[in-house]
Parts: sequence; structure tokens; C-alpha cells
Amino acid sequence: MNQDELKQIVGREAVNYIQDGMTVGLGTGSTVKHLVEALGKRVQTENLNIVGVPTSNRTAKRAKELGITIKDIDQVDHIDLTIDGADQIDEHYQGIKGGGIAHLREKIVAINSRKNIWIVDESKLTKQLGSFPLPVEVIPYGSQQLFKKFKKRGYNPKFRMDGDRFILTHSKNYIIDLGLGKIGDPHKLAKNLKDMTGVVEHGLFLDIVNTIIVGHANGTEVIK
Ligand code: 5RP
Repeated sequence: MNQDELKQIVGREAVNYIQDGMTVGLGTGSTVKHLVEALGKRVQTENLNIVGVPTSNRTAKRAKELGITIKDIDQVDHIDLTIDGADQIDEHYQGIKGGGIAHLREKIVAINSRKNIWIVDESKLTKQLGSFPLPVEVIPYGSQQLFKKFKKRGYNPKFRMDGDRFILTHSKNYIIDLGLGKIGDPHKLAKNLKDMTGVVEHGLFLDIVNTIIVGHANGTEVIK
């Protein structure tokens, strides 16, 4: 199986965790895309009453096309379950997200959910976080100063660019990716980043996930 097929099997497996009447946070990315397709099918064939809370415009658009009812996070009373992808997950089930620049909304939806499931292909599992660049969303004002501070700390920062244009997040902020190599203490790093003025949110998702569904060539594995 290639990587996309592994993403497909976990997306299809995760849809079984969604029950009629649920309000469901819908993550972002190429793995979640398969979940949304599978959910669309279930909503149509089983006539399910599901409310989706999307974490990106991309997800919202596709979910709507498939007939899934969509609401903004501030229009719902609670979120039963959120299903999202991840860029890297370590052996303590801590994660890096934000490869698809949606981690601010993804984190807001995740922390307001009763349960979080991550769906990943096996390449996302690692012993220690850090080989995947850590996305940090920063406000544009003063971002060059922040960049210099990251550099001084040895974080190997890089603005996320599209040619010579800064890529903008949903909230019209910039992303700085930190090339850390290895993250020894994710909680300490998370706190250090949060303490820096101008940082809106980093992509460390710590102590958030309840269940991880991993796609392997011989099938899916459910962790936790
Ligand atoms: C977007 C994310 C995604 O969940 C993450 O990048 C995984 O994406 P994919 O499923 O395409 O590999 O955090 O901000």
C-alpha cells in the first residue's frame, strides 16, 4: 500500500467512531480528506444527523459539498469528538501539527472536544519529536524581530513562503517553521514559545489525544 492508501484506510476506520447525533470536529489535511469523504457517504446513505465543525476552509468546503451540516465553533454547545491528522507523533503520544497551516483552529477545536482521535499513516510515528519542522503562527507585526530571537536560540527558523510571498493563515498571520531536529522536552519548549510576545500558537499538541489510529500495510492499529 502506498502512503495515500494508508491514509485512506485510517480515514475509513475513523468514521465508525462517529454516531448519529454527534457534533464532530473535522481536522485538516490529506488524511482527514478521506474521513470527510467516508462521512459524507454515511450521512447520505444512513441519513445521519451530524454537525461538523471544520478546522479549515478546505475541510468546510468539501464537507458542505458532501451534504454534511457545518457549524462554526461558536455556534455549537459542545464538540463530542474531533478527528484530525498529525505530522508527527512520539512514543508518549505527543504530536506536532500545522504542516497544513491550520494548527491554530485545530488546537482550538481539539481543546474544546470531549474526545480527540488522530488518524495517521505509520510514517508519522517517531521516538522523539523534532525531525518535522515545528510550525509557529506569529502575527506579522514584529515577526522579523521574533525571527531573530528564534535564530539566537538556535531554533533554525524559516518563514513559510510561496515564492516571495508570506503564506497567510486563516487568521492572516505568518508561519515560522522551526528546524529543531530533536525536541528533548516538548512541554518546556511549548511554554517558552507561548511566553514570547507575537507568538499566536505553536504546533505542539501535548496531552490532547485520546486515541490514535495508525495505518500499516497489514491493516489499522488502534492505540490507547
Ligand atoms: C494541518 C495538520 C494536518 O493534520 C497534518 O499536517 C497532517 O496532514 P496530512 O494528513 O495531509 O498528512 O496539522 O495543519
